[in-house]
Amino acid sequence: MERAPDWAPAWFALAEAKEALGDRGGAAAAFRAALAADPSDALGAAPRLAIAGGEATRKLPSAYVAQLFDGYAARFERHLVVGLGYRGPALIAAAIETAAPGRRFARALDLGCGTGLAAAPLRGRLERLEGVDLSPAMLARAQQRELYDALDEADMVDHLRRFVAAFDLIVAADALVYCGDLAPAFAAAATALVPGGLFAFTVEAQSAEGYCLRPTMRFTHARRYVEAVAAAAGLTPLLVDAASARREGEADAPGLIAAFARPDGLNPNPQGRCGCALPNRFRTCGSRPAADPREPA
Ligand SMILES: C[S@@+](CC[C@H](N)C(=O)[O-])C[C@H]1O[C@@H](n2cnc3c(N)ncnc32)[C@H](O)[C@@H]1O
Repeated sequence: MERAPDWAPAWFALAEAKEALGDRGGAAAAFRAALAADPSDALGAAPRLAIAGGEATRKLPSAYVAQLFDGYAARFERHLVVGLGYRGPALIAAAIETAAPGRRFARALDLGCGTGLAAAPLRGRLERLEGVDLSPAMLARAQQRELYDALDEADMVDHLRRFVAAFDLIVAADALVYCGDLAPAFAAAATALVPGGLFAFTVEAQSAEGYCLRPTMRFTHARRYVEAVAAAAGLTPLLVDAASARREGEADAPGLIAAFARPDGLNPNPQGRCGCALPNRFRTCGSRPAADPREPA
């Protein structure tokens, strides 16, 4: 620490050691030093502070998500599909078929596309498929599938805000779990959809109101919160059902599969300022990570 006082990983390792020893004050101070050394917060010191201190946090740092999945990309599919029984893309494909039987789409966008697992079950009904993700390593694997017409490295909300009435399908499979406050993403998705366009996604669910950052470093969202934010964005519900996209430990992680539509006549609201009363009680839960939070499991 003396030789490299500005090296965030050293502060972060110290914080984790202090946390493991039960020194919460020392851990918080070291997490703060890690954040000061790396304001982009690639290690996720701010959300770890939020979890430890029970403080609110609206989203995970982009640099943290990118680094997390860059390190995970090589074993992502084996771990998630084989190890955790992941079925997010299949749930989304089934939800689209239920909401719009047989419908084909001219231009689709896959938010947080990762390695492109959602491309195969959807591609047959799409004229054009685009993807966006924060992780270059995940995008490189998606590229290898040769099922995407365009792939962009960007934050999903920043990317969505580039479009008005451009897509007739937007999907997000297990990607909104890295966003707490869904209002910016939903408002931008509503604006980016053509009238009649669909937005289908999975989230992990919680029974308490609002949303919450778990010690797993993934957010859970209440059904009523999802429905209220979607309504505030002007989206019409087609389907919101309980469905688990993956296991967590031995049990299925509670989740939701949802499909919403942009109605005709929606007044676009690209900034995500809904100006309405939402049950938006964002908060963090838990006190210590139950597992290594750098494993997105
Ligand atoms: C669990 S993976 C799911 C990948 C893919 N959708 C699938 O079903 O296999 C989550 C992905 O979302 C991406 N992601 C998380 N937050 C994001 C954000 N704000 N903007 C863009 N991508 C994001 C991550 O980089 C990661 O590739």
